[in-house]
Amino acid sequence: MITLPEFPKKKKLKSIAVLTSGGDASGMNAAVRAVVRYAIANGVAVNGIYKGYSGLLEGHIEPMKLSSVANIIQRGGTILKTDRCPAFFKKSARREAVHILKRNGIEGLVVIGGDGSFAGASLLEKETGFPTIGVPGTIDNDIFGTDDTIGFDTAVNTAIEAIDRIRDTASSHGRLFLVEVMGRNSGFIALSTGIGGGAETVVTPEADLTLGKIKATIERGMARGKTSSIIVVAEGPKPGLAIRIADGLSKAGFKPKVCTLGHIQRGGVPTAHDRMLGSMMGAAAAAYLVSGKSGGMIGLYENEIRFVPYRDVIGKKKKLPKNAMALAEVLAT
Ligand code: ADP
Ligand code: F6P
Repeated sequence: MITLPEFPKKKKLKSIAVLTSGGDASGMNAAVRAVVRYAIANGVAVNGIYKGYSGLLEGHIEPMKLSSVANIIQRGGTILKTDRCPAFFKKSARREAVHILKRNGIEGLVVIGGDGSFAGASLLEKETGFPTIGVPGTIDNDIFGTDDTIGFDTAVNTAIEAIDRIRDTASSHGRLFLVEVMGRNSGFIALSTGIGGGAETVVTPEADLTLGKIKATIERGMARGKTSSIIVVAEGPKPGLAIRIADGLSKAGFKPKVCTLGHIQRGGVPTAHDRMLGSMMGAAAAAYLVSGKSGGMIGLYENEIRFVPYRDVIGKKKKLPKNAMALAEVLAT
């Protein structure tokens, strides 16, 4: 069980705000709810900013009450909505954002999102001194400095459920399936789905898996009597990779079927794990921010909450666990 930081007795801030930014992830609502309720319960006012940095620049800000976050812990997506905001790459926009925050009496900001959202928060803080704290919310689990991110567990469970269904039909017909999962720059979803779903092999952006190697894996399975195979493919930088691999396999005489899971991995009822993670991280963010800690992200390390400065997070590449790729293949032989 994760230990939650206590709410500070000495409060440096009296009013904070929370927004969600970048790709949504199941469990973000648990984090929003925890920021709002942990802060209000301790006498700190909370504003909700709608539609990420875009909504901030439009001044779409509303005071939150305890009841504003009622009945949301079980809902996927984010009640605060989210967005990608190209304008925020400009210094002038970030300055304007701070004016808007101050005009609304807000003294600190919780940003729930990914690496990109933290880059924006970090610049805003460096340039203006306005306190921000990040909460890692992305299905990709690709944020350096934290073992886990909100939404990853739900996405992997969704993908594994899909694989189980595909396995039924694959084994009935004796077919080869390529299942494409999300993960533009990282193979965490693919790897966990592959291992948990018993896939023959896993294609990730991190590993250089050639068509020849994929063919060899399938043929090895066939040689020992396998009649069906499942290969999990991370979409990588150019989604549609599973179709491209299937084309190569078709030319080599196989008859692969492709299933692209896409955005179904982003939505749906958050798992118990993501609700718990979101609740703990959201509450910790509120407590740290009000205690005067800022300029970093809430991370989970060896099952404990910790504060990680943005400079130790942004632009760093989180590596897949050592030997995990090999394990996926060994377990499927
Ligand atoms: P994520 O937070 O999930 O990684 P993005 O990379 O799409 O998602 O970033 C979300 C938003 O954060 C962007 O649309 C932009 O508004 C802001 N952002 C990302 N990178 C930067 C940056 N280097 N400078 C300023 N703002 C940024
Ligand atoms: O970063 C999360 C993620 O779901 C990636 O896995 C995926 O490549 C990307 O977002 C898709 O984003 P969107 O469809 O929202 O542009």
